[in-house]
Amino acid sequence: MSQIQAFRAALLHSLADPAEAGNADSHAYFDDGLLLVRDGKVLQAGPAAELLPTLPADVPVRHFADALICPGFIDTHIHYPQTGVIASYGTQLLDWLNTYTFPAEARFADPRHASEGAEVFVRELLRNGTTTALVFGTVHPQSVDAFFTVAERLDLRMIAGKVLMDRNAPDNLTDSAESGYTQSKALIERWHGKGRLHYAVTPRFAPTSSPEQLALAGKLFAEYPGLYMHTHLSENRGEIDWVKALFPERRDYLDVYEHYQLNGPRAVFAHGVHLCDDQCARLAGSGSAIAFCPTSNLFLGSGLFDLAKMERHGVRVGLGTDVGGGTSFSQLQSLGEAYKVLQLQGQSLTPFKSLYLATLGGAKALYLDQHLGNFLPGKDADFVVLDLKATPLIDYRLRQARSLEEKLFALITLGDDRVVQETFAAGNSVHRR
Ligand code: GUN
Ligand code: ZN
Repeated sequence: MSQIQAFRAALLHSLADPAEAGNADSHAYFDDGLLLVRDGKVLQAGPAAELLPTLPADVPVRHFADALICPGFIDTHIHYPQTGVIASYGTQLLDWLNTYTFPAEARFADPRHASEGAEVFVRELLRNGTTTALVFGTVHPQSVDAFFTVAERLDLRMIAGKVLMDRNAPDNLTDSAESGYTQSKALIERWHGKGRLHYAVTPRFAPTSSPEQLALAGKLFAEYPGLYMHTHLSENRGEIDWVKALFPERRDYLDVYEHYQLNGPRAVFAHGVHLCDDQCARLAGSGSAIAFCPTSNLFLGSGLFDLAKMERHGVRVGLGTDVGGGTSFSQLQSLGEAYKVLQLQGQSLTPFKSLYLATLGGAKALYLDQHLGNFLPGKDADFVVLDLKATPLIDYRLRQARSLEEKLFALITLGDDRVVQETFAAGNSVHRR
């Protein structure tokens, strides 16, 4: 019989969307909890007092004092080749792409640069407690090989794809409709379904793909079961005007993607900051998801994401960092900024909704909730140990808190990579502070 692993600490996980179930029924918390893992999967999670007596005597128990165990964080939108341009000064989206991003992405033609970039990126995800991400590569297939090589070695559940871009971009970053299709197909054959890896058909955004490329992307998306589609939508006003000029025959930005059958389950659109009710209703109706990327939307001056509107329409929403447009790998920091984005619109983000967005909500947005998002038996044992005494201020503030809710809110608002003590993927330790 294979070995059981046991992890003891306070345990918190999400069970449902607080917007649907209410805050009280949206989570389970055990002040002194035990997480049992076997073969990389959750066996059981519950109170230590109940579970400890059921364990064979030889099961080692790792006890984390002053710590909180949560499911691993899920980042539903990030660009691994932009790690080196995070925190670049002074521009909004379209200038930012030309000034910083495209030159940085061009360097990923070199497989050695790609390998180094992939190592740095994955280490940074794990340092921040992110165990699953939906990841943009560059136009170069070797960028995706480099990323998946690292993710496979660590047995991570990751989704990525090669960028499709055949116009309105520098020559050293473009493919063609045909080569983009063929190269993506080869990557799918090589990686999709290997270990815990999934492939995403990745047209950068409507302005950088010809109608022919979008049509082939739609065809490819339907060709293999379980593929993702990952792109950007309605992030910036200048971008939206550009799409209108390039696709005058389409009724709005989303209609461009719909026309080429790039929507539906496992289609993930980053941003969606400027969407009308009709577009939200269509996203919900097709089962598509939006990645809410607060640090990026603020940093690039894109606008304020309307979460209440998405909830009204029943759109699936995950949380994204959008590094390098976003300014942090930490989903705790993203949530801190998300709270402020909603404050500016008279909306609130409760701490349990925050927990949901970073874990189970992300899993649902990605249609991975049968594997990820909480500690129900059989799910992947991807989890993070958060240090409740990580800094003097966090320690002091949490000791004043009179409820779990207050404690969680302060931890999210003040927390970042410093609170991530250890990260586990499929039951294996993959980062230790
Ligand atoms: N839209 C098209 N490409 C990008 C990108 O790389 N980052 C962001 N934030 N938006 C985009
Ligand atoms: Zn992005």
